[in-house]
Amino acid sequence: MRRKTRSFCFPSCRPPAGRRAALPAALLASALLLLSACGGGKDESLRVGAALYTQDDTFISAMAQDLEGLVREAESGTGEKITLFIADGKSSQSTQMDQVDRFLARGCDVLFVNLVDRTAAAVIADKAEAEGVPLVFFNRQPVAEDIQRWDRIYYVGADARESGELQGKLVLDAWRADREALDRSGDGVLQYVMLEGEPGHQDSLLRTEYSIKAVTDGGVEVEKLANETANWNRAQAAARTAQWLEEFGDGIEVIFSNNDDMALGAIDALASTPRDRWPLIVGVDATAPALEAVAAGQLYGTVHNDGRGQAQAMMDLALALWTGEDPAQAVDLKEGHYVWLPYRPVTLENLDEFLED
Ligand code: BGC
Repeated sequence: MRRKTRSFCFPSCRPPAGRRAALPAALLASALLLLSACGGGKDESLRVGAALYTQDDTFISAMAQDLEGLVREAESGTGEKITLFIADGKSSQSTQMDQVDRFLARGCDVLFVNLVDRTAAAVIADKAEAEGVPLVFFNRQPVAEDIQRWDRIYYVGADARESGELQGKLVLDAWRADREALDRSGDGVLQYVMLEGEPGHQDSLLRTEYSIKAVTDGGVEVEKLANETANWNRAQAAARTAQWLEEFGDGIEVIFSNNDDMALGAIDALASTPRDRWPLIVGVDATAPALEAVAAGQLYGTVHNDGRGQAQAMMDLALALWTGEDPAQAVDLKEGHYVWLPYRPVTLENLDEFLED
């Protein structure tokens, strides 16, 4: 991580936010070096406001912890003060709007926004632009037109389609490796149920579509027994799975889940009654409890969603925007606005690589 060793020293009398980006990079770099060399004398800190759709989400709360950790690392690496405000939107877009207003009123220099409702992006983008405050959306992707409203709007995330394809490939590989074990009914068709995330979320839609496409593109016929949303939520997924187990019993050969929390809910439902065989279960995220479930042989596999890498890219962007550095020099920026972190499949075979994280 390049920031760990970098010495930042923020100017004590910086220009208004809207004009900061216009500072010639070379001039700014030498000003920073000078200040750094003379011990700083700054009386301002970088202030970042992070608005979460809800903190009651395993993946998002882990990202919030990552952000806090990265701020501490950057502070100790640079000697600079960075203040991170975190607001919990509690799944209410109007609450999140108020929080964004408060961040702007408090003089935040950069905003990180994990939208409650993806269609609210334009309003937030316009508020940020009016104040000249750069905006980084993450995890819940606005439509391209909203991202393009201003050149200082960014999106940090991962390609949902890729996660679906990798999840489907895990199942396809399992089928190819031991078809008999998977095709319990012996009819040559893979019977499955699908636990879906929040309706309208790009990750739910694309994971649902591309996981199945990867299996059928691999030449395996599938039969969907049921699909339903469980809103990313473990308890809701346990309830849905319990119903499906009553309805289809051992007829379920695979449980696809759009994320790990819901896969863990499926495991909760399966574990509540003793049974000889379990369906194959796959998730997405590689959260700590999901990795434990892989180690225990309950979760066949998951797809690592690099929340820490996303948090790192957000911090790198924030620091670059603050110092006036070209963001494209700080992160791998695509089309001037996007940073994409890759997904990676996880099974028992490569679990060790992820347990260290
Ligand atoms: C994660 C889910 C999470 C959702 C929140 C997805 O990328 O896989 O676990 O609940 O984002 O928006």
